Amino acid sequence: MVLTGGGDCPGLNAVIRGIVKRASQEKDWEVVGCIESFNGVLREPTEIEILDEKRVEGLQIQGGTILGTTNKGGPFAWPIKNADGSWSTVDRSDEMLRKLQYLGIDAVINIGGDGSQRISLGLFNKGLNIVGVPKTIDNDLSMTDYTFGFQTAVQICTDAIDKLVTTAASHNRVFIMEVMGRDAGWIALHSAIAGGADVCLIPEIPYDINKVKAKIEQRYNKRRGYCIIVVAEGAMPKGGTVTGTETGEVGYQHVKLGGVGEQLAADLKEAGVEHDIRCTILGHLQRGGTPIAFDRVLATEFGVRAMEFVLEGRFGQMVAYHHPDIVGVSLEEAVRTPHFIDPNERLVHTAKGVGIEMGN
Ligand code: F6P
Repeated sequence: MVLTGGGDCPGLNAVIRGIVKRASQEKDWEVVGCIESFNGVLREPTEIEILDEKRVEGLQIQGGTILGTTNKGGPFAWPIKNADGSWSTVDRSDEMLRKLQYLGIDAVINIGGDGSQRISLGLFNKGLNIVGVPKTIDNDLSMTDYTFGFQTAVQICTDAIDKLVTTAASHNRVFIMEVMGRDAGWIALHSAIAGGADVCLIPEIPYDINKVKAKIEQRYNKRRGYCIIVVAEGAMPKGGTVTGTETGEVGYQHVKLGGVGEQLAADLKEAGVEHDIRCTILGHLQRGGTPIAFDRVLATEFGVRAMEFVLEGRFGQMVAYHHPDIVGVSLEEAVRTPHFIDPNERLVHTAKGVGIEMGN
């Protein structure tokens, strides 16, 4: 059984296709997909579908996930409504494992980020034959060089910077582009370098507004000039906090980030920047649509290897990219430490080397 969990990501369907195509070369295996992460098994009636070669034809191109996904709840924290209208959670993992047995599921492949792989680990510890496939556009999983979907997101952001440069230059404006990156600024850092931005602000390096202001002024000759600032949604000023709102959505465990770009624009105005400032929020445009070729290849490799891990009985492992190989790492290791940007790391050095102001 294969399922996709957490936020969607370009390449999910390519992984599903890789799994199904590899399985179809074996005599005794049939693949089913579970709808909306584990919800399809937890719901009555059960929502699973048979995935054969016909169903996955051409799927490497398609964004999103044909199985649907969710980043709320799960077998260990299933939301239930109490009599007084409030919500709480119950652990339905044992019940779900019994149901998987009843359905004759021999193995599960869980495609998801850190939250999903924590669920994989919990279920593995309870005896489920499970293999993980790492997914996140944020690229914040430490045990794989890259997650699929990340490079597509970087490409989308880079294309957006290329477009903003022409309008910024025409109007002598400062443009702030807010990109995804809750805890890790990889998308911001890569796209800032690729797009030739002037400032890059990331969650790992709280920024000094005066440094940003100084860089803007450096980019202008009196009133002529322009400046491109890339800011990750999870970035914050020195001594400040992230910008976001509580969604109130049942089972959603995060603050919905967003708004740091507009906040930065207001702070820069207050700090005395007189040039026009405009802010563009890319939001979910970074997660939708067709994966670029790199992500299709990586996702296909992950799918094929994940199925082979099942055939080899390598459960409790997550497939991972350690250039040039696809290897297995234990789920425990996979979720232990997130992959954040070290302010002293090579890519930060490169960014500073081409004059990008990192705000510290
Ligand atoms: O974890 C990936 C991510 O894209 C984050 O960068 C972002 O904060 C979050 O998902 C947004 O999630 P949602 O789709 O629930 O708004």
